[in-house]
Amino acid sequence: MQAKITALGTYVPDRVVDNHFFETFIDTNDEWIVSRTGIQTRRYSAEHEYTSHLCIGAAKNLVEENLVMLDDVDFVIVATVTPDQTMPSMASQVQDKLGLTNAGAIDISAACAGFAYGIILANGLIAAGTHRKVLVFGAETLTKFTNFEDRTSCILFGDGAGVVLIEAAPEGNILAVSAGSQGDGGKDLYMSNQRKQINGVDIITDNKIHQNGRAVFKWAINTVTEQMSVLAKRSGIALEDMDWFIPHSANMRIIETLCSQTGFPLEKTLESISIYGNTSSASIPLALHRGIREGKVKKGDRLLMIGFGGGLVYAGVVLEWGGK
Ligand code: COA
Repeated sequence: MQAKITALGTYVPDRVVDNHFFETFIDTNDEWIVSRTGIQTRRYSAEHEYTSHLCIGAAKNLVEENLVMLDDVDFVIVATVTPDQTMPSMASQVQDKLGLTNAGAIDISAACAGFAYGIILANGLIAAGTHRKVLVFGAETLTKFTNFEDRTSCILFGDGAGVVLIEAAPEGNILAVSAGSQGDGGKDLYMSNQRKQINGVDIITDNKIHQNGRAVFKWAINTVTEQMSVLAKRSGIALEDMDWFIPHSANMRIIETLCSQTGFPLEKTLESISIYGNTSSASIPLALHRGIREGKVKKGDRLLMIGFGGGLVYAGVVLEWGGK
């Protein structure tokens, strides 16, 4: 049996935050944010709304839009770097809330490459014959880990979630995958673990996102252009024959530079950065869903998805879109 992605669902919180919001507490402006990042708005989760809630929202959307049953899902993977808590896992909470009594459940931490990594793992579980129906989520509440005193990063992030259903089928639709890590770049994008000693015990007191934007920008361009060729070669589909390129939505200028350096047409890319900001592991499913809702992505289209981010890590998937 092979792995087939059969359905997609997404969820974003209600609260829309525009660029003027930041002008009230940091030295920035709408023009700078739009021209340097392409971001116009992003979504913020509510006070008691966490990553697990966003996952449930995405799963409900998947069920409603695709008219599928989830009862026999046998594995749940949640890619996130912003879990409600590290234990229990988001996947176990989702497994419980969706009543998936026969499902295994794990979280994975691969930042903005997490969704693609999740698909790769699900593909492996199904190919190994041990599982038949897997949910893969990319879900984040980054705004709960944002340093609002850092004007170079706080303007970037938003909250959201996406999920795909991957099923065992005689003929799959995942045509190629790739994954890698460059751990020596971890210092350029990380959650700080500030510590203090309380009663002789080392306690983590703060974990906020920090990044060296320029270094990550440069690394992303080099890495993703290389991975575009790797994935084209592995799938046997030339870059120009890919219908849609969906890179992680980290910055509109990264997407534009990837296109200008590889000659890939910008109008054949899908992005979520302009309306949702950088949502890390959720950005690729959000961009894909946007493309489907706008009538761009059709059944049978060949999609090239590449995630990249904190680790530093990257992962890519080429697939023939089979969902509704
Ligand atoms: N408003 C106004 N000015 C700002 C600003 C803000 N929010 N943030 C930074 N600036 C200023 C800087 O202080 C700097 O001023 P200076 O020239 O006087 O020193 C100037 O703008 C340029 O800063 P720089 O950091 O070079 O900007 P940039 O063009 O690299 O854009 C990022 C910053 C973060 C938007 C960009 O580097 C980026 O998107 N990087 C990649 C992020 C990424 O991919 N993350 C990983 C994936 S999750």
